[in-house]
Amino acid sequence: MNMAWQITQLLLLALMTVVWGAQPRTPQDKRNLLNICMNAKHHKTKPSPEDKLYGQCSPWKKNACCSVNTSQEAHKDVSYLYRFNWDHCGLMKPACKRHFIQDTCLYECSPNLGPWIQEVNQSWRKERILNVPLCKEDCQSWWEDCRTSYTCKSNWHKGWNWTSGSNQCPVNAACHPFHFYFPTPAALCNEIWSHSYKVSNYSRGSGRCIQMWFDPTHGNPNEEVVRFYAEATNRAGLPGA
Ligand SMILES: *[C@@H]1O[C@H](CO)[C@@H](O)[C@H](O)[C@H]1NC(C)=O
Ligand SMILES: *[C@@H]1O[C@H](CO)[C@@H](O)[C@H](O)[C@H]1NC(C)=O
Ligand SMILES: *[C@@H]1O[C@H](CO)[C@@H](O)[C@H](O)[C@H]1NC(C)=O
Ligand SMILES: *[C@@H]1O[C@H](CO)[C@@H](O)[C@H](O)[C@H]1NC(C)=O
Repeated sequence: MNMAWQITQLLLLALMTVVWGAQPRTPQDKRNLLNICMNAKHHKTKPSPEDKLYGQCSPWKKNACCSVNTSQEAHKDVSYLYRFNWDHCGLMKPACKRHFIQDTCLYECSPNLGPWIQEVNQSWRKERILNVPLCKEDCQSWWEDCRTSYTCKSNWHKGWNWTSGSNQCPVNAACHPFHFYFPTPAALCNEIWSHSYKVSNYSRGSGRCIQMWFDPTHGNPNEEVVRFYAEATNRAGLPGA
């Protein structure tokens, strides 16, 4: 066979790969759900190792969508990330706050949320997560540890008064113990971020639900979970729940 012709074919193939790879991602794009970062406010464009990830975000060191800076900021009150004030009804207890830090680490750092990424029309991000199947124990302990903290709203995405630069309770939204606004674990995990999570009936270690907390010495358990749901998504054309 003619060598020049073969080279031309190879070049054409390489060119097609580049063009195909540059296509914008859409929810219908099923090819690449396994290891991606959402297009949001602070995410890197692609996951990669981050040796110095800080504190509770360190489990994602081997492969992360967050930068070191984001991992540090995730531990601060009213951080540069979103200017969000956890202490909007007096001090949030540390046992409760650590779950919000972990939730921030998962959101910012996880490269395993592909099947649940959706496009959105928001000024501050192009994509969000919807109905991530959070392991039931992770939701339960979040809810239990926040029992003694206070809040004034059940959806923390909208309705705040931001005039001071961080979120304050709107007038007519009274501070109550968490259980007043979140009577069940599912009410907390599903409602707080407008259904970013949908609490799973599956348990930690099942390979069928996303773990907010994990010990990285045994690898990242969410890699298996995303493989399962990406296949389910490819088969059914719908995100699994
Ligand atoms: C992270 O980066 C932002 C913006 O550059 C900066 O304001 C902030 O101080 C940095 N945080 C840390 C912990 O370095
Ligand atoms: C976003 O908003 C613009 C204008 O408001 C609209 O044209 C567009 O269809 C919206 N996109 C989505 C994904 O909702
Ligand atoms: C928002 O908070 C400011 C104080 O920071 C207050 O003066 C204002 O009345 C509040 N607005 C609403 C709509 O709650
Ligand atoms: C959830 O799990 C419990 C206990 O294993 C089971 O009884 C229940 O039927 C399950 N619910 C659903 C919706 O799968």
